[in-house]
Amino acid sequence: MLWIKSLHVIFMVTWFAGLFYLPRLFVYHAMNTDTATSATFKIMERKLFYGITTPGGVLTVVFGIWLWLGYGFTGTWLHIKLALVAVLIVFHVMCGKYVREFRDDRNTRDHVYYRWFNEVPTVILIAVIILAIVKPV
Ligand code: HEM
Repeated sequence: MLWIKSLHVIFMVTWFAGLFYLPRLFVYHAMNTDTATSATFKIMERKLFYGITTPGGVLTVVFGIWLWLGYGFTGTWLHIKLALVAVLIVFHVMCGKYVREFRDDRNTRDHVYYRWFNEVPTVILIAVIILAIVKPV
């Protein structure tokens, strides 16, 4: 199971690399007015979302469920963690929606919105790591 736990953590880091950097790209993209630069942002956003963030998220969940079934954990910490993972998945889906809006030049939100949006995964990461390692409840 320790190999599965290692893979779980490796893909969690991969997932978060995308969840942290994509909203940052949205901040710069929302401030940009140049068409050529916008085309570069579109390529970066597409590759980061579909090539790194989505596979990272899917594999984190797959190995997480494997661990859950393998260890047979119950515990309140796991239920709270799963609820937070559900919020994270909603955040991920919203990132995908924003990637497509920028791709089609349909973005209507300003950079301040994306700066706040950027804080969501930070809060969830801190809570989930404490729940998974300290298991306070
Ligand atoms: C459906 C999603 C997930 C499920 C079912 C799940 C389940 C699990 C289980 C059962 C363990 C083993 C706990 C232990 O050995 O003490 C574990 C470990 C861990 N999980 Fe998850 N997890 C999921 C998503 C996540 C996410 C999104 C993160 C990070 C934000 C995360 C971070 C960790 C960490 C850091 C550990 C290692 C804990 C340790 O070694 O003490 N997991 N996970």
